[in-house]
Amino acid sequence: MITEHKSAIGGSHSPQSGMRDPEAAMFARVEPSDRVPRPTPREADPPGADRLGLTAEEQVQFREKGYVIKRGLIPRSEFSPFLDLWWKQPPILSAGISRDNPASWEGPGARWPEENRWGLTDNWMGGGAWPSLDDDRPGATRGERVGRLPYKLTLDRSNNVWRWHGIGHDPEFVAATSAHPRMLHMIEALLGGPVKRPWRNRGLYAVFPRDRSGPKSKLGPHMDQSLTELQAVTYLDDVGPRSGGFTIYPASARMLYPTSQQALNWTPTETSQELMDHITANVEPIEFTGMAGDVLFCHGWTVHSAGLQESGNIRMAVIQDFNRVRERGHMRWSAAGKNGGPRINCDYDGAFVFPVDGGEDDPADGRREVTNQWIMDSNEFVLDSQAPFDDMFADWNLGQRPVAGNIIDEPPWWRKYGLPMPSGDGMPRGTGGMPAVPLSEIAAYEGGGVWRVTSRANDWMTG
Ligand SMILES: [Fe+2]
Repeated sequence: MITEHKSAIGGSHSPQSGMRDPEAAMFARVEPSDRVPRPTPREADPPGADRLGLTAEEQVQFREKGYVIKRGLIPRSEFSPFLDLWWKQPPILSAGISRDNPASWEGPGARWPEENRWGLTDNWMGGGAWPSLDDDRPGATRGERVGRLPYKLTLDRSNNVWRWHGIGHDPEFVAATSAHPRMLHMIEALLGGPVKRPWRNRGLYAVFPRDRSGPKSKLGPHMDQSLTELQAVTYLDDVGPRSGGFTIYPASARMLYPTSQQALNWTPTETSQELMDHITANVEPIEFTGMAGDVLFCHGWTVHSAGLQESGNIRMAVIQDFNRVRERGHMRWSAAGKNGGPRINCDYDGAFVFPVDGGEDDPADGRREVTNQWIMDSNEFVLDSQAPFDDMFADWNLGQRPVAGNIIDEPPWWRKYGLPMPSGDGMPRGTGGMPAVPLSEIAAYEGGGVWRVTSRANDWMTG
């Protein structure tokens, strides 16, 4: 999903310092090959695709290629209420997109309202409207990004993509997708318990048919650099070849894994970038094709891309992230720069290190906007910093132990830190998002440019 990362940047491009930006994906330094991805017809699945659990053949495929597809894992009927809701959302209605007129689905960007600002509540920095790019802001340089919006349409090279992040924290939507019992069964069969019960997912990603007068679709392979251990993509409607199917580079996670400095927190090295270039240029991608209710599971470090979309259908998919319960470190907080100073990201030790060398931005200023990638269910580093294992699946289940329902109600990060709930109070379904809070609310100034966060990550374990 290439523009999901770029779309979040918006406005001025502040120089980056210190830790990696949580919104930054890793791209190759070379152009992807023109190779057309191979679809995944039902006949090509290993035995067991239509059953819960993992057959021996599926275990081998996951180990070697890093993915497995389960067919009809969730009944299609579960999705009807959300698809009905989708067709009634404000941008769909105002852009004149109608369910019974497929011609209206094509390249709707030009008819889409310019502002993607539905569903926001007045809770920015403790109260007040989410700023737009030309507003003056006490906590950030004008034009700084606000993070993800609950409704966001972008234009990839050729296809409009609407990422409805706001539905990703709707409890009924989560129950029908990421926290569906058959989904949780598969997560435990693959990753092993204790599984962290999902509280949200990234939401419903719709890839519209392209404007026929524009350029053809092109792949944009990248690696999310998130804290996801196991990623899943569920189709809410059927997806044929060249229809925007989620595209992955098989075995890419296996290639990248040993290049990370850490086993559980992706910490790339120069070798990682070389491998990324190699994968992009040489590995044959596959595009996930299937029916509503089919789910692709892949290792969270898999190189992937928005699929080629040359069809007349809208690609409807839910993008999901899963993790084991583990002792957690700090959050992937990001603090806005002010007065020309750089954006600073929180490091593994919970420190924001601001420059003290005489710029206009006072490092002691705690009234600056702090955000994180709120569309993710896990934004917390893992406390364990050990080096990659010889076997990257050493602590995965991969079908070795029976599924026992080992699902834990670990509180979500926003509750751990007492942050505003992403679902806006009293707002319609599918709205809301995480506003910025002041740095001084989550961290204390130590002097010398260093702000330190007090971790709340594991309080729930110790009581
Ligand atoms: Fe992505």
